[in-house]
Amino acid sequence: MKFFIDTANVDEIRKAHSLGVIAGVTTNPSLVAKEGKDFVETLKEIISIVDGPISAEVISLDSKGMIEEGEKLAQLSPNIVIKVPMTAEGLKATHQFSKNGIRTNVTLIFSANQALLAARAGATYVSPFVGRLDDINQDGIPLIQDISDIFKIHQLETEIITASVRHPIHVTQAALAGAHIATVPYSIIDKMIKHPLTDQGIERFLSDWNNRKA
Ligand code: E4P
Repeated sequence: MKFFIDTANVDEIRKAHSLGVIAGVTTNPSLVAKEGKDFVETLKEIISIVDGPISAEVISLDSKGMIEEGEKLAQLSPNIVIKVPMTAEGLKATHQFSKNGIRTNVTLIFSANQALLAARAGATYVSPFVGRLDDINQDGIPLIQDISDIFKIHQLETEIITASVRHPIHVTQAALAGAHIATVPYSIIDKMIKHPLTDQGIERFLSDWNNRKA
């Protein structure tokens, strides 16, 4: 399973990228709004840091508007992936983008059927949101397993991005369930790196080294 970073914060993207573990970036309108910067300028900065798929979401709700927005965003770089909401209009736009060779990430996926439809429309990626399902008392991880099984049975090449990741256990579970990618906030990467026994181990090694006889 690969990692994308789920943020529009350029400093966090730079920090995560320097670790050598990030294969791409996902953004959404809420994440972009939080940074209070121009969307296109932010994307340009991200493009200059990460050489991998960078998801940029459209705001329009009709397919015509989505296609217009997406075509402009796609001109910024071949690495731009157009993020489209999982609606009937979103499917139409996804199909059109696919015919025009523009990659898509169909977002706000909450059921296996939605993922299957998005894949059939030609989506490059689907983004099932595990955390938001957990929030309504429904375990999100079995959805990843179901989508992974369905895509394998029917030989669909669409990749699964586990999104709305809230804690490191989601990451392990998503990897075991067959997700191709997990998109995670920087805080999760930090939590995944740390283990108290690693810290204690380093401390003990150093103290033994400093107290060596010879
Ligand atoms: C994914 O692409 C979304 O940007 C993101 O994972 C949403 O996460 P949230 O439910 O924490 O807002």
